[in-house]
Amino acid sequence: MSRPERALTAIREPEAWAPASWQQYEALQQPVYENRVALDEALVQLRTLPPLVTSWEILQLRQELAEAAEGKRFLLQGGDCAENFADCSSPHIANRLKVLLQMSLVLVHGLKQPIVRVGRFAGQYAKPRSADLETRDGITLPSYRGDLVNGPDFTPESRRADPRRLVEGHSRSALTMNFVRALIDGGFADLHHPEYWDLDWVKHSPLEGEYREMVRSIGDAVRFMETIGGAPMGSLRRVDFYTSHEALLLHYEEALTRRVPRQWGWFNLSTHYPWIGMRTAAPGGAHLEYCRGIRNPIGVKVGPSVTPDQLLRLIDVLNPENDAGRLTLIHRMGAAKIGEALPRLIEAVRSNGRRVLWCCDPMHGNTEGTPSGYKTRRFENIRSELDQAFDIHAACGSRLGGAHLELTGEDVTECLGGARDLTEQDLNRAYRSTVDPRLNYEQALEMAMLIVRKQRAPVAGEEVRGQ
Ligand code: PEP
Ligand code: CO
Repeated sequence: MSRPERALTAIREPEAWAPASWQQYEALQQPVYENRVALDEALVQLRTLPPLVTSWEILQLRQELAEAAEGKRFLLQGGDCAENFADCSSPHIANRLKVLLQMSLVLVHGLKQPIVRVGRFAGQYAKPRSADLETRDGITLPSYRGDLVNGPDFTPESRRADPRRLVEGHSRSALTMNFVRALIDGGFADLHHPEYWDLDWVKHSPLEGEYREMVRSIGDAVRFMETIGGAPMGSLRRVDFYTSHEALLLHYEEALTRRVPRQWGWFNLSTHYPWIGMRTAAPGGAHLEYCRGIRNPIGVKVGPSVTPDQLLRLIDVLNPENDAGRLTLIHRMGAAKIGEALPRLIEAVRSNGRRVLWCCDPMHGNTEGTPSGYKTRRFENIRSELDQAFDIHAACGSRLGGAHLELTGEDVTECLGGARDLTEQDLNRAYRSTVDPRLNYEQALEMAMLIVRKQRAPVAGEEVRGQ
C-alpha cells in the first residue's frame, strides 16, 4: 500500500510528551498489581515483541476517517464488548468478520458510499468497571476487568491482577490479527456471495422483501465485477479491516508505543484506532495525556453529562492542529437523553470550527437490568438512539458519520427484540457475554438495514433547509 501523503504534513511533535508522561497524571481504572517485579518483567517483554499493526496502515485509516468527517465515507465500528482469550478461535474470528463484512456490504449498497470497516478486536481485552470490588454472598473480591487483567471466575486466584496476562493478551491479539489478515487475503471473498448469507431470520422481519432484494442485487454486482475482472472477487485489500480497542491499560499501551523509521512522532502499534472510554475521558487525566502524543486517530466516548466547555477542552488537547481525521467523537447518550444532550455539543463544535468525525454508539446508554439479573438492551432503544442521532445531526447542520456497535457473529440471545422479537425468557438460552449484551448476527444485519432505510428517508426539516 502506498504511504499517504498527509503523513508528511503537520510535522509538529506534541510538547513535553513521552510515552510514559501519563504516569504524572491521575490514571483511573488501572488494576492494582501486587507484584511490581512481575509487572516490570511483563512490560520489558512487551517492549521487545513485534507490533501488531504498521504506521502506514494507521495513517491510511486517518486519511479515510478524514474523508468520513467530510461526508465522503461512513464508519462502521463493531465487535464484542470484550474479547476473551478462550474465544480466540477460528469460528469466532471468522463469524465476527463475516457479520461485519456483510453489514458493510449492506451499507455500501444502501448508502452508495465507501465504508470504513473497523473491528473491536485483536486487543479489546480490558474493561472499565463501575465498581472496583464485587460482593457475592458476603465475599468481596476485585471486579473482573477483562482478560488482559484478571479472570471472570469469582475466586481470589482468578480475580488477582496478573501481569503475565499482558503478554498473553498481546499474543492472542497477534493470533487474531494474523487470521484476520489471512482471511482477508485469501478465502474470505466468498462471503460476498449471497449463498453465504444466513437468510432464515428475514422471514420474521417486516424488512423481508427489501432484504432479499438487496442480497440479490449485491450478488448481481459481485457477479458483474467478477465477469469484467475475469477473476473471483478476492481483492479486498489487506487492511480493508482496521482494528480498535479501548486504550485503557496505559502500561500496556505505553509498551507498544514506538517510533518508526522515516516517520516523525510516536505510534501506538498495538491497534490502528484506540479509543478513550467514557469513564477515563476527563480533561486532566492520564488517558488524555497518553493519547495526545500518539499519531493514531483517536476516538473518545462522550456521555450525556459532558458539557460543551469540557468537550472543547478535550478537543484542544487531542486535536490542536484541527486535523479532520484525528478525532472521532463517539456519543453514547441513551435513547431517552440524546435529544437533550447532543444538540448543544454539536453546536459548540460547529460554531468553534472544530473538525471531528461524529459517530453514534447506541449501545452503552441503553443498558438495563432484567428482574432475573441479566444485563440487556432493547433493539428498539438502540434503533431509536441511532435514528435520533441522524436527525439531530441533520437538524444542527452536522452529519453523523459512523455507528459503533457491540455485536457478535454468533447466535446469542443477549439483546431483546429484533426480527425474532427475543424476550426475557430467551435470554436464558444463549447469554454468553461476560460483560455487555451484544447484537447477534441477525440483529446486527437488521440494524445495518435500518441505518440504510433511515438514511434514505427524508430527514425532518430537510425541506426547510433546502429552500
Ligand atoms: C465499551 O465501549 O465497552 C464501553 C465501556 O463504553 P463506554 O466507555 O462508552 O461506557
Ligand atoms: Co461495552
